[in-house]
Amino acid sequence: MFTDAAETLPKEPMSVPKSVYHERQQRFLSQLTHSDLVIITTPAEAVRSNDVTYPYRSSSDMLYLVGWADPEAALVFHHDGSRWISHLFVQPKDTLKEIWEGRREGTEGAKLGWSVDEATSIHELEEFLDSFLTKSSTVHVRTGISSDVDAIVISAIERRDRKRQHFGSGPVSLEDPSRRIAEMRLRKSPEEIDMMRFAAEVSSVAHELAMKASKDGISEYQLQAIIEGFFVYGGTSGWAYPSIVGCGENATILHYTVNESKCKGNEIILIDAGAEYKGYAADITRSWPINGKFSDAQKEIYEIVLDAQQQAIAACRVGNAYNKPHEVARTVLAEGLIRLGIINQTLEEALDLETGQLKHWYMHNTGHWLGLDVHDVGVYKPDGTPRLLEAGMVLTVEPGLYFGAWRPDVDCPERYANIGIRIEDDVLVTDGEPDVLTIRCPKTIADIEGIVGTL
Ligand code: GLY
Ligand code: MN
Ligand code: MN
Repeated sequence: MFTDAAETLPKEPMSVPKSVYHERQQRFLSQLTHSDLVIITTPAEAVRSNDVTYPYRSSSDMLYLVGWADPEAALVFHHDGSRWISHLFVQPKDTLKEIWEGRREGTEGAKLGWSVDEATSIHELEEFLDSFLTKSSTVHVRTGISSDVDAIVISAIERRDRKRQHFGSGPVSLEDPSRRIAEMRLRKSPEEIDMMRFAAEVSSVAHELAMKASKDGISEYQLQAIIEGFFVYGGTSGWAYPSIVGCGENATILHYTVNESKCKGNEIILIDAGAEYKGYAADITRSWPINGKFSDAQKEIYEIVLDAQQQAIAACRVGNAYNKPHEVARTVLAEGLIRLGIINQTLEEALDLETGQLKHWYMHNTGHWLGLDVHDVGVYKPDGTPRLLEAGMVLTVEPGLYFGAWRPDVDCPERYANIGIRIEDDVLVTDGEPDVLTIRCPKTIADIEGIVGTL
């Protein structure tokens, strides 16, 4: 089942050249003053149970600036008077640990293969920071990621605070570097787009396989297994966020992740699942009847959501406000529900955020930035006004309608009971037409009816 599908995938992208990381580092550092010190931290490994840890995922800023993905690392930048020095602290070589846990690059490997000037054992980080913290005025560190680094910085600042009275030196302020890095991460480079496109392709094919395998009686977890199995088979590291696989009324629960029920009859199955490739997320949702034949009621809702999504994608253009797709989708959804008699308000009334009926059936945003984080970084409203879209930005477009008959807060129209439809694609803003990275994933009624159950 996987082999034929995998053959249709594009080739894996080339790894990102060191020069690209170097350019990113320089662009970030050019915003700082020479007396600053930057520490990019990574989270500690987290215990899952007893001596088993969760699969490790480094911090996205570390991946963005240098591409180092292993645990127990820190990236430090300091200025030596003539230039910025990048210094990566990593796990040192340790044969016994490597026999048990896997090979390590060590300091030599890090220096050779990564875009850094120096590489040193992580065990020397504290001493190193201690001496540099005394010379720095502003320390750029995101607290809350590494408690070890936080403790070192705080204790150095406390000691400096006491000595500053005598010597007049030492850090006087802390700044979060992720604010500046987020601004850079918001606009994707060609190398990043290649990786996102690959994650999107693998994810699209995974959804296609789940459609093919769908049939009365299949379980949510079996569809999850196909999707996530193909994420790995296709060459990604697995899911970018826990897969949402909900049939029947579970399709009306936005972030349902129990994935335990059996799918019956012509219930809608809603799958929101995306793979992660070299840290980059895809984020796709498709919804279809498990037996491959849309009922009239399902069709009515699906067509409204699809129309909303297509019009919202068309609004992903340079110069439009980031929330224009949301406004477009809301309008199309509200018009559709008024047409079906589900909303008995005027369009203007239906769209009112306080009293409009649209929010009973559509209660989330139409999208978010996508990148190294599935809900990627980047301020939506710098200075309080919506950011305008630029070429290179990637966002999701994911309108939906959810008629949970189980909900006590609304009277669900019986004809549409437990229909939950969300359609989500990943869109790259370009100087021309929006580029749908997930274009390969079937989504018209005809395409879906033609593919479901064909395995
Ligand atoms: N998968 C989470 C989301 O669509 O935002
Ligand atoms: Mn999603
Ligand atoms: Mn999403």
